[in-house]
Amino acid sequence: MAKPKSSFVCQNCGAVSQRWQGKCESCGEWNSILEEDISGGIGAKVARNMRKGRVFALEGLQGTHVEAPRMVSGISELDRVTGGGFVPGSVILLGGEPGIGKSTLLIQACASLASLGNRVVYISGEEAVAQVRMRADRLGLNKAPVELASETSVEDILATISTGAMPGLVVIDSIQTMFTDTVESAPGTVTQVRGSAQALIRFAKLSGASVILVGHVTKDGQIAGPRVVEHMVDAVLSFEGDGSHHFRILRGVKNRFGPTDEIGVFEMTGAGLAEVSNPSALFLSSRDSSASGTAVFAGMEGTRPVLVEFQALVAPSSLGTPRRAVVGWDSNRLAMVVAVLEAHAGVRLAQHDVYLNVAGGLKISEPAADLAVAAALVSSLTGAHLPRDTVYFGELGLSGSIRPVVHSGLRVKEAAKLGFNQAQGPVKASEASEISPLQVHHIAHISALVANIAQQSTSDKARKG
Ligand code: TYD
Ligand code: MG
Repeated sequence: MAKPKSSFVCQNCGAVSQRWQGKCESCGEWNSILEEDISGGIGAKVARNMRKGRVFALEGLQGTHVEAPRMVSGISELDRVTGGGFVPGSVILLGGEPGIGKSTLLIQACASLASLGNRVVYISGEEAVAQVRMRADRLGLNKAPVELASETSVEDILATISTGAMPGLVVIDSIQTMFTDTVESAPGTVTQVRGSAQALIRFAKLSGASVILVGHVTKDGQIAGPRVVEHMVDAVLSFEGDGSHHFRILRGVKNRFGPTDEIGVFEMTGAGLAEVSNPSALFLSSRDSSASGTAVFAGMEGTRPVLVEFQALVAPSSLGTPRRAVVGWDSNRLAMVVAVLEAHAGVRLAQHDVYLNVAGGLKISEPAADLAVAAALVSSLTGAHLPRDTVYFGELGLSGSIRPVVHSGLRVKEAAKLGFNQAQGPVKASEASEISPLQVHHIAHISALVANIAQQSTSDKARKG
């Protein structure tokens, strides 16, 4: 039997199959399989055409290096996430659901950089020039010297921006609308997206311009098509938020030139995106502290402390398997907190439905929220109000112990700044004296938290009665 001359490679996950299929059996992606020439075996051609390579010098780890210079946009929430500004010659992929505000954020960044004297080019593949102008008008940015075009051919775009002074920043909105002549498939396909991205990345590296690619994400949060682009770019930022809330969060997913745990917080207003420099105040602004079942968590997002309110509702269940529903936190973690409360603090939740919500629509991923969740659950179950001037933080172990978390000092300071008087968490008395202005109650075990709430509830009743 003759050896096959080609094989079929999934462009999404790299799986190899012997025939073409509409759907990759390995990753489940549709239309991602392409035929590739492997005649003579992978690498055979290279071996046959081997030329003598050029010798280059190898270097040691020690030596001089220069910090990458930065283009600071002046929008500090954006600069915080990029790690202090855009790096010349780097490529950023900005992902987000359609309508979340990517174009708005970028036109604001473009206008700001252009006003500072940089050459800035904004290419829209989705909107006509008039539409972009209308938005800039509405944002009061129409005076900024941003160069604008509505184009989708990568070759045309590169030819245009390569003339004249080299741009400092080029925005491509969006990468899914681009097409390049070097690839023979329809615009929007994985292959086209990758081909276009490759050409634009090469341009960035050669010219020293900073390039931002916009990528739309699908409902399940994947950057559609451009997943293949993620590993080629220097930074992947994701712009999140939900339609019913006004605030938007810019998060670093990958960043070769900066941190990935920083967030930038914006608010969508009638006049574009406004920076939110004090997110805690925003998330606590409509707090109803007279209700039971709410606890304030002193959290961290990157290097910045953020206070948020956890709301729990615990109600007797009529179902065989009670409901557990979570918005804004990990449902597995909720199951764990519930189990630890049952096993180590005698709190019976097995016959109750449990609902947990992070107020304001923020998504929390820190395990340090365990203690605040436990407090909210116990408060809702018993009807006892938690003291309104208290914040909670601490990670729960399966044994019921509360484990220390990083940055206790920053958490407590932020709480003090927002008018809280007490904190409950795994902070030793010796540390507490350093980080007070607040009264810090050291909690080492989940049973201590439950006992505190029970005591609070009896003293409440005594005062009322
Ligand atoms: P847009 O930047 O076009 O989103 P994307 O590029 O991510 O698809 O933002 C669209 C939404 O933002 C739209 O629903 C209207 C809203 N918006 C405002 O509320 N205020 C504004 O000043 C602007 C420009 C947009
Ligand atoms: Mg857009």
